[in-house]
Amino acid sequence: MKRKEDPRFLQGKGHYVDDVTLPGMLFMALVRSTYPHAEIKSIDISEAMKVHGVKAVITGKDLEAAGLGWLPTFHGLDKQMVLAIGKVLFQYQEVAAVFAETRAAAADGAEAVQVDYEPLPVVADPFTAKKDEVILRPDRETKTNHIYHWEVGDRDRTARAIEGSPKRVRQRIWFQRCHPAPLEPCGCVAEFDTMGRLQFHVTSQAPHVYRTAISIVTGIPEDKIHVMSPDIGGGFGNKVPVYPGYVCAIVGALKLGRPVKWIETRTENLTSTGFARDYHMDIELGATPDGRLTALRVSTAADHGAFDAAADPTKYPAGMFGVVTGSYDVPVAHAEVDAYFTNKAPGGIAYRCSFRVTEASYAIERAMDILADELGIDAVELRRKNFVKKEQFPYGSALGFTYDSGDYHQTLEKALETIGYQALLKEQAEKRARGELMGIGFSTFTEVVGAGPSKHFDILGIKMFDSAEIRIHPTGAGIVRTGAKSQGQGHETTWAQIVAEELGLDPQNIMVEEGDTDTAPYGLGTYASRSTPVAGAAIATAARRVREKAKKIAAHLLEVGEGDVEWTDYKFQVKGVPARSVTMKQVAFAAYTNPGPNEPGLEATNYYDPPNMTFPNGTYIAVVEVDRETGEVTIRRFLAVDDCGTVINPLVVEGQIHGGLTEGFAIAFMQEIQYDADGNNLNTNFTDYLVPTSLETPHWETANTVTPSPHHPIGAKGVGESPNVGSPAAFVNAVIDALSPLGVRHLEMPVTRDKVWRAIRDAEAGKT
Ligand code: CDP
Repeated sequence: MKRKEDPRFLQGKGHYVDDVTLPGMLFMALVRSTYPHAEIKSIDISEAMKVHGVKAVITGKDLEAAGLGWLPTFHGLDKQMVLAIGKVLFQYQEVAAVFAETRAAAADGAEAVQVDYEPLPVVADPFTAKKDEVILRPDRETKTNHIYHWEVGDRDRTARAIEGSPKRVRQRIWFQRCHPAPLEPCGCVAEFDTMGRLQFHVTSQAPHVYRTAISIVTGIPEDKIHVMSPDIGGGFGNKVPVYPGYVCAIVGALKLGRPVKWIETRTENLTSTGFARDYHMDIELGATPDGRLTALRVSTAADHGAFDAAADPTKYPAGMFGVVTGSYDVPVAHAEVDAYFTNKAPGGIAYRCSFRVTEASYAIERAMDILADELGIDAVELRRKNFVKKEQFPYGSALGFTYDSGDYHQTLEKALETIGYQALLKEQAEKRARGELMGIGFSTFTEVVGAGPSKHFDILGIKMFDSAEIRIHPTGAGIVRTGAKSQGQGHETTWAQIVAEELGLDPQNIMVEEGDTDTAPYGLGTYASRSTPVAGAAIATAARRVREKAKKIAAHLLEVGEGDVEWTDYKFQVKGVPARSVTMKQVAFAAYTNPGPNEPGLEATNYYDPPNMTFPNGTYIAVVEVDRETGEVTIRRFLAVDDCGTVINPLVVEGQIHGGLTEGFAIAFMQEIQYDADGNNLNTNFTDYLVPTSLETPHWETANTVTPSPHHPIGAKGVGESPNVGSPAAFVNAVIDALSPLGVRHLEMPVTRDKVWRAIRDAEAGKT
């Protein structure tokens, strides 16, 4: 069988889980709750079993009897019902699984399952949850809806500094619940092969973690599990958690002795898989009258939904929220987060964000604009005054991070010059004099990516290192495998480039393979822009190990001692004698044909444990016009100047920036997963949850500065998350700047036309 046609090997282009078709395959459909909170009085499957083609139905009770009623959530600190047991906790929760000969029969069978519910009172927000009048999770030891309290910084000193500050601003800012909405929903095919081994094709951003989690949940020995994640149609954090549907498909395959395919619908994806954000943040800044920050304090209520399935490393329940001091030299700070259960879908995943960095970045960047407004200082000047200076790196932030490198002033100045800030200010003043609403919005953010150093970071106890294995073949071609998993980020290109650059080989002949747990070394996967900082570093380190070995073989070929050989101009040469040299290609051939006293072969593996995170940063500027009559916002220009350290591939990086800006634009202006007071989800498809097309998407202008990471082998920082982290604040700041002559100080995202129009109307009626 050709590799492309063999469903066990779905690496490569254009192979999706839904393309996997196996003999005798059954299809699974899930019955989902219509109520957000209800007792299950009974489940009647008799009508479903009569549907032509339906083979079996399983419920929560069946799974519970088999010891599979619950699965651990991402960080292992909570558990989640696989299928509802006794009651449902959110609308669209998984209640039963139907297995049938065709997809249509499975769907018909699911329709025919009769569930009798007794509705219970609904807890639709964290502020109601806090009152503990209705306890949602009596299965837990602590009978409260409060999940955790997390804090960092110096509470007392911060309180004193804020109280003693001549100027203070305070703002409640909500980063709304949104959804990554990858174009391909989640899905899997579970098959127990003739050896009784689970062959599991799944849309996973972290295949090895899945293998371990499946083994822990099901008791199947890990060597009997083969996880394959092919092209997965986008992930954005949505394909990190292990979802109930996966467990059901595996159980179905085991019980029925046939392969089972489950592919989510769009509605299932939007309503039941990992949402993002939903942080209600009260942020306060203290400052001197001339705009020097004296303190920052932020207190957050987090809505985690029915189970604590937030995707954060075990010791960081609020992720990297501590980066909320942003790019600014804040003397003292305190941040706290309290999380609550509500009757909503579980999640809080790292949607194009390194674990709550997007929320933190949005809060500080909005607050800086509010402070600038309060002080009557230009928002740029306030930033410039408070930036961490380049000579302060490595910089220890008040909330415990050590920023590796950056030159914020340089990045800002480049952005101002590129966009022509002075001319824009002049134009804005003229327009304001005519009553027109033009806004210029800034976001000068700092990210923290590359989770992470094993002394701090783990998931389910597994340290967050990553890995690379490189094999160079006799002809100088090669293969690199990593524990990361590309979902369209171009690892196939950039990993090959790292190997080629380190070894002087042709990148066209370096095959990149990820996503297959039988072949790739163990890794924690791709999310939170960790691939380049961690797996990318593992690749460079492994390549250098290959080069060390190659040097010994080169010495043999050149008939000199190893100490007399140097690597220069992408080849080995006798020190000071350029005429006597061998290429890596020649060495590769010798490694298999004439290795001399050396061990044959040319390969190396590296498990890279990063010493620190990397801190990419940038200056984003949005220029908008707001129509006073309709509230319509037009993005006239958007400039992103990013600094992600050494750039491996400028085109790939630009693609990352364009994609992330488009998602940030959508969050700022059109996306929100809304629930009504009764807990009904109002955004269940793409007519209610909007995804921007090329028609709405603005033109993106990009530029960059380079301050390499001092601790990364090639100086690279992550970049994929930056545009999503940095851009929402730039958009909203621009709209508020446009509306500021009317006295508008803040609007919650999404800043829809309707909201803007109402703000203008209220302001004109003197209500703000
Ligand atoms: O973890 P993920 O791949 O989503 O994010 P990333 O590490 O930010 O990398 C996204 C893509 O941009 C990868 O193909 C990287 O190799 C590439 N990249 C680059 O070319 N140069 C950088 N300094 C950072 C990322």
